[in-house]
Amino acid sequence: MALNFPKTLLTPLIRLATPADVSSIIRLERACASAAHWTERQYRQAFEDGGVKRLVLVADTPAHSVPAIPGADPNILAFLVALHLAPEWELENIVVVRSSRRQGVGERLLRALLATARETNSKSVFLEVRESNAAARSLYEKTGFEKTGRRTSYYKNPAEDAVLYRLGLE
Ligand SMILES: CC(C)(COP(=O)(O)OP(=O)(O)OC[C@H]1O[C@@H](n2cnc3c(N)ncnc32)[C@H](O)[C@@H]1OP(=O)(O)O)[C@@H](O)C(=O)NCCC(=O)NCCS
Repeated sequence: MALNFPKTLLTPLIRLATPADVSSIIRLERACASAAHWTERQYRQAFEDGGVKRLVLVADTPAHSVPAIPGADPNILAFLVALHLAPEWELENIVVVRSSRRQGVGERLLRALLATARETNSKSVFLEVRESNAAARSLYEKTGFEKTGRRTSYYKNPAEDAVLYRLGLE
C-alpha cells in the first residue's frame, strides 16, 4: 500500500518550460492580479528563436516531473520569464500559485535565473515592480537586489510608481 507522504515535504522541481506549459502558465498568470499580463501569443513567442533570448522556467511537484509531453498539462506551481539582453538579464514575470506561496518556490526560481545569468557571464539582472508589492520586493531584496530608482505612475489600473531594482554580478 502506498504511504501517505505530506505534500508540503515534496520539493518542487525547477525545469525549463516547453510550449506545452503555456496554457498552465496563462491560467496561473490570469489568476494573479499583481503579475505582468501577456497575451498567449507573447508567451508562445518566448519559445521561438527570433533573435530574442528568453528563459522560461516552471516549478512543478515531483509527481508531475515526468518529461513534458507535447499537449500535456504539466500542472505547474509557478513560473518565471526573463529576457536576455546581453550582458544583462531582465526579470519580466514571476508567479507562484497562491496555495504554494511562502514555501521557497519563488526564491528557488529566482536563484535559478541568477545562476543562469552568472553562467552567461552577465553583468547584472534588473527588474521593476509595483511599489505596493511587498511580497515581491521582499523576495528581491532577500536575494540581493538593490533599489536603483523609480518610474512615476509607470503602472496603470491602478496607477502606481514602479520601483527599479538591480543585482550586480561582477
Ligand atoms: C512574489 C512571489 C513570487 C513570492 O513567491 P514565494 O514562493 O511565495 O516566495 P518565497 O516563499 O520563495 O519567499 C522568499 C522570500 O521572499 C519574501 N516574501 C515572500 N512572500 C512574502 C510576503 N507575503 N510577505 C513578506 N515577504 C515575503 C521573504 O523574504 C521570503 O523569505 P522568508 O520566507 O525566509 O521570509 C509570490 O508572492 C507571487 O507569486 N506573487 C504574485 C505575483 C507577483 O506579484 N509577482 C511579482 C511581480 S511580476
